[in-house]
Amino acid sequence: MPRSMKNFSASTFVALAGVAYATASHSPFEINTPSIPIECVPTLITWEGGLAPYALVIQVPDANGTPVQIFSGLRGHDFTWSTNLTAGTAFGLSLIDNKRDVAQSAPATVFPGTSSSCLN
Ligand SMILES: *[C@@H]1O[C@H](CO)[C@@H](O)[C@H](O)[C@H]1NC(C)=O
Repeated sequence: MPRSMKNFSASTFVALAGVAYATASHSPFEINTPSIPIECVPTLITWEGGLAPYALVIQVPDANGTPVQIFSGLRGHDFTWSTNLTAGTAFGLSLIDNKRDVAQSAPATVFPGTSSSCLN
């Protein structure tokens, strides 16, 4: 085997071992996109990884958009949101952890429900 090939294999092995180690030792910081958020029906928002406390930001029309609601000081891995956005509103979630790492959801849209009583 040519010497350069041997070196390539060794460094590839080291890189792959590093990736495996990182994966095993740190769970990724991720927020789950709510599948069917319904107007004025509480939506359970969940996430994994990161370091508490967390701040959850609801943004329109997606996770890079305008912040419209912020819930800070969250210590668990979930938050029940009142879903007080008008049906049809597109939004996204950003979750900021104590290290200022940011996890973002995919865009979602509020579905109509049977009540609008939670809206101001
Ligand atoms: C939505 O609910 C939050 C509290 O859960 C409140 O701070 C906010 O003003 C409400 N916004 C609207 C548009 O009703």
